[in-house]
Order: sequence, then structure tokens, then C-alpha cells
Amino acid sequence: MRMFDIIKKKRDGEELSTEEIKYFIDGVTNGSIPDYQTSALCMAIYFRGMNIRETCDLTFAVRDSGERLDFSAIDGIRVDKHSTGGVGDKTSLVVAPIVASFGVKVAKMSGRGLSHTGGTIDKLEAIDGFNTTLSDEEFIKQVNDIGFAIVGQSRQFAPADKKLYALRDVTATVDSMPLIAASIMGKKLAADDDCIVLDVKTGSGSFMKSIEKSKALAQLMVDIGKNAGKKMVALITNMDRPLGYAIGNSLEVIEAIETLNGQGPEDFTEVCLTLTAYMLSLAGKGSVKECREMAKRAIFDGSALAKFKEMVAAQGGNTALIDDTAKFSKAKYTHSVKSVMRGYICKVDTEAYGLASLALGAGRNTMEDKIDYSAGIILKRKTGDFINVGDEIATLYANDESKFAVAEKLLLSATQIHEKKPQDEPLVYCTVE
Ligand code: URA
Repeated sequence: MRMFDIIKKKRDGEELSTEEIKYFIDGVTNGSIPDYQTSALCMAIYFRGMNIRETCDLTFAVRDSGERLDFSAIDGIRVDKHSTGGVGDKTSLVVAPIVASFGVKVAKMSGRGLSHTGGTIDKLEAIDGFNTTLSDEEFIKQVNDIGFAIVGQSRQFAPADKKLYALRDVTATVDSMPLIAASIMGKKLAADDDCIVLDVKTGSGSFMKSIEKSKALAQLMVDIGKNAGKKMVALITNMDRPLGYAIGNSLEVIEAIETLNGQGPEDFTEVCLTLTAYMLSLAGKGSVKECREMAKRAIFDGSALAKFKEMVAAQGGNTALIDDTAKFSKAKYTHSVKSVMRGYICKVDTEAYGLASLALGAGRNTMEDKIDYSAGIILKRKTGDFINVGDEIATLYANDESKFAVAEKLLLSATQIHEKKPQDEPLVYCTVE
């Protein structure tokens, strides 16, 4: 087999065989295919696309390029939730303990934040002492004992994706449905879950800016998961505004704890309840409607928060912070961002809000950057709210006062204010099953 022929075939719009796709991914993994040929094939795929059979083959080859987890020692149904990434998205911290409180297992491997999006592992590390690295034995034991564990991706999952993504990033080929689906699902399928709920974000804070594109991506990923024998559902959720009011690591953990306490923001609570309902329902706990009521009950009776606290204790975190969130360490400085206009907040650029939080020190530009856990933003007004000149739009938190100017500028220019009240947008647009 020659890479030249594979590139030419796809360039001319032909279908690649399973063997050709495997040859390509094996070559990317072992370094035998030069970057220029990998990039050329990515560009050919970008223009010519792939059918579902080719996309599944590509996904499975990516999944098989590295280690795969074996969760067979975990008793019971294993369910996971994967978000395509957004701003203020701390849903994992809420949905995992709710689901686990009903005996469904959540063995979660999460990532770190990059650019405007946050990552669950960074958020958990904002809890003093929290250990995101467990051995396989510790991880499986904890899931069996208390129902869930959340750890970082310390293993070599899907190494082909790492190389492919780095090349796609610099050759303008990220934005291709089969390449995105294979990248996300190749990593997801390396874990050994029975059911997966995908939270596909759409709008200004996500990498899929239109509902149509998000739906198409969701359908493709659901089909791939089903082909791999998983029970799958995808929800298309709104990322045209940050989720909840908190952006930044410890601020988001506090908001997640408040939500588990039944005092969370309406939008964030709603998305968490919907995701949880689908996770529990896929795991055979009842209809989506019944499972939603169960999820509400777990918040109301305190069992979800108790489960979260158990997980924090098991992973070495300081549970005094969960009992009293005022004990989280605070940023040294705060700054109030005030409106210079009067009217309704009609639209926000969510990505810019994420970048403002990054500018305050809450995120990273490269994977090597250090994070300031106490930095971030608490929004005081969101899309649809009325605001007067001088009213506070947000409070900024940082340990370096010089960071406020850039963040404030970003935030103000990302907030559009008009006389007319905007139409309410749904939080969950649709489900893809
Ligand atoms: N996230 C991924 O993991 N891969 C992509 O290709 C795009 C987003």
C-alpha cells in the first residue's frame, strides 16, 4: 500500500477501504507517514468527506492506536457524559454525583481547559488536596465503593489523535465533520462505558456555531457509538451564553456545590437535570421523565451532595470546603465591570467571555501554562436582563490587578445591549438518539 494512492483516491472523491484507513492511522501512530502526506489526506477528507462506514473505521483505528481501558471489574452499568466544551460548563461536577447516587457507575476521565474553554480536572484541582491521578486499581475500587471517580487522562489514549489534531490545527482542517467525530469518539471509545450521553454545545462559545452543524455532528457521533455497541444519546445545548453565572475554577466549583444544594442558577440546573435524566434513562432506571424527577429528588434530599462529598474525601480533597464554600481561597483583588449603556443584554460573545476569564489567569493558552484557581468572573447580568448605565455586568477576580483592563475590555465589547428585549432561546435545542 502507498500513502500517495490513498491521498489520490480520496482527492478524487472515492471511498477508502478499511485496510487503507487502518494503514493511514497506523502510519500516523508509528511515525512512518510524513506530516505532509498526513496533512494532504486531511485536506482531501475535508473537501470530499467520508461516509459513515469510513468514519467508523477512522474512529476505531484512532481508538485502537493506543491503550484501551477495561472496566469489566466495575459492577453494574457504566455511563458517561461528554461535553464538546464550553464556557462555565461545570456540569460533570453535578451530573456524576446525581447519577452515582442511584447506583449507576460513572468512571470518568476528564480533560484540562485550553483557550476559552475550561476543563473538569482544573476545576477539581481547585479543591485543596484533590488528587486527579489514581492507579487503575484505585480508580476501579473507588467506582465500585462509592459509585464514581473523576481522574485526568494520564494514559496514552488515542495517540494518533494527538498527532492528527496538531496537524489539523495548523493546516485549516479542524473543521471537518468526519475528522472531528473520529477525534472525539476515538478518545471516548477508548474508555469502557456501556452508555454515553453527548452534550454537543452550539453557539458563540462552542466550536460548532450553528444548530444544523451541531446536529449533524451529534448524529454522526451517535451513529459511531452505536456501531461500537454503546447506548447513545446526544443533546444539542445552548452555548450562546455561559452556563450559570460563574466562570473560573474555584468559582465554578462553588456554583456546582450550590446547585447540588438546590440553590444553583436556573439555566445550569436545567441543563444538569436534562443530562442526568438521559444518563439514568440510558442506564435503565426509567423513562426520561421519571429519571428527571429522580434527579430532582437527589438534589432535594441531599443525596447528590453527599455523594459528591464522598468522592472528594476519597480523592483526598478537603471536604470542609464543600460544607462551607466561603473557605475556598479568594483572589486578592476584585473589579466591578459596569454598563455604559441602558437596555437589554441581547447577545453575548461567549467565547470572548471565556477569553476574559483566561486573561484573568483562570485558563491556559498552552498546556504548559499554570492556572490561577481563584481567578475568574461572576456574571451579574445575562442575556435577556435589563441594565442601566452604571449597573454591574460582572465582578472580576484576579491576583494581579493589571489583568483587569484587558478582561474588562473583552467583556464589554462582547456584550451587546439594545432597547428591545431579545427572544428567549432554548437551553436544550433537541436530542439526537
Ligand atoms: N475536540 C476534539 O477532541 N477534537 C476535534 O477535532 C474537535 C474538538
